[in-house]
Amino acid sequence: MERFAFILHPLRQEDFTRKYPILKAVPFRWVEETFKHMPPRVLSHITGIESRTGAQAEGWFIAVPMTPRLLLETPFEKVLPRIVRAGRMAEELGAQIIGLGAFLKVVGDRGVSVARALNTPVTTGNSYTAGSALQGTLLAAARMGIRAEEAQATVIGATGAIGSVCARILAKHVAQITLVARKRDRLEALQEEIARSTPAEVHISTDSRSAVRDADMVIAVSSATDVLIEPEDLRPGAVVCDVARPRNVSAAVYEKRNDVLVIDGGVIRVPGENVDFGFNFGFPPKHAEACIAETIILALERRFECFTLGADIRVDQVEEITRLAHKHGFEVAGFRRFERAIPDEEVGQRAFASIDALADFILAQPQGYQTVIGDKGMLTTGTYGDVTRLLPVDKMKDFKMPPPLLTRSPGHMRDFIRACKGGDPACSNFEVAAPFVEWMLLGVIALRHEGKLEYDPDKMRITNNAEANRLLKPEIRKGWDFHAVKL
Ligand SMILES: NC(=O)c1ccc[n+]([C@@H]2O[C@H](COP(=O)([O-])OP(=O)(O)OC[C@H]3O[C@@H](n4cnc5c(N)ncnc54)[C@H](OP(=O)(O)O)[C@@H]3O)[C@@H](O)[C@H]2O)c1
Repeated sequence: MERFAFILHPLRQEDFTRKYPILKAVPFRWVEETFKHMPPRVLSHITGIESRTGAQAEGWFIAVPMTPRLLLETPFEKVLPRIVRAGRMAEELGAQIIGLGAFLKVVGDRGVSVARALNTPVTTGNSYTAGSALQGTLLAAARMGIRAEEAQATVIGATGAIGSVCARILAKHVAQITLVARKRDRLEALQEEIARSTPAEVHISTDSRSAVRDADMVIAVSSATDVLIEPEDLRPGAVVCDVARPRNVSAAVYEKRNDVLVIDGGVIRVPGENVDFGFNFGFPPKHAEACIAETIILALERRFECFTLGADIRVDQVEEITRLAHKHGFEVAGFRRFERAIPDEEVGQRAFASIDALADFILAQPQGYQTVIGDKGMLTTGTYGDVTRLLPVDKMKDFKMPPPLLTRSPGHMRDFIRACKGGDPACSNFEVAAPFVEWMLLGVIALRHEGKLEYDPDKMRITNNAEANRLLKPEIRKGWDFHAVKL
């Protein structure tokens, strides 16, 4: 049996009043100030965890009684000894690895000093937090009827430690990605790197609000202290994963936009018939946050090492912990917001509400969207048949797109450069583009004339209507003529 401990802290008044109901009558500030002097304490014994490999683990939740406000406002030199004291309690209980919850891994140097002071490895859980944010975003997108491979995604804070890992991985799943931060040079370097390694079209922007306007999915993970996304910024049906602390998404978005889905990340189902956390932290039974799951996964795998510490997270770390999660039977089974699971019905209601809002949004666009309205619902696409959706969204559930017939473009510029360098012909080369334009222009002439027009494609002439035929060639004013280039 492997052993772990997870150190957490109260997030809100309810976390005190659950144990001491009398505190409901007392102002929260008073509660915070009184409890902050108390020593850490063991909250519960966690039992029943069993990997699909058969490995078993038990653990303990240990609480440092400081709220987010106190943790952020107290100098780190005063917070550190309290976390270390909790860590020593974990060591006495026999923990072989220790995880840090919520703001305990945000303050100071993100676990480095805590790990240095203890004899037991420490992990922040941030690799699986990033991995599950990505998985959660993709899962939430599917629930809202978005096809990831055709979607536009935006990552705010894309050049940061967590943002860059999210952007690198998300770019492998979507058609277009926009990277947002304030410093353009770092954005350009990341854009070049991602464009080289994925087929996605990669854009950059220093303006978060305009960068999310057309996005189907947004991962917000910037260190901005102000809110960056307001309710009017998002398109209907969008999914936003707000990983940032403080949050990048205004609370008004949850309240005013019932047609978008804002999540903090994924909720993880922990394996084992009889998993018992011994403590209600607002999640359904047998479910936990990703950072708790990372600690347990490392224990089950006997990887007693400081797996994630400090600010930097690498793609290979996220991929490895995601692989180990799968190996041991952990899975993203829902979404969370404000450290609470979002009820499944709420997700369904938001997907449903997005239908009407999306229809209005699409019909209000001057160009760039097409809608086919049928008896049982609608089919909508972008300008080039991208982001195809069936509405209502539940019609997307069992729908499989036909296999692609034509070569997909890696983006205008790269398509052109590839052809110039002797690679595959451009997706819309002259052999395709010229006849395509030819019949479209003939259609335009046909609109201007009654009756049937007969066209001789070899001579490129309309043979039964001289007036229509005259429109095939431009009339060039004297002095503006030019000689055709002979190929
Ligand atoms: N939920 C969790 O469990 C969890 C875990 C760890 C971290 N976090 C949170 O995640 C966030 C990012 O952490 P990190 O370690 O990746 O930070 P980081 O390495 O400092 O990166 C911050 C990113 O935000 C960008 N940025 C800052 N202000 C911005 C603004 N006003 N508009 C657009 N972009 C802006 C920065 O680029 P420029 O300077 O060029 O703008 C950079 O790309 C923080 O809020 C942190 O607290 C959450």
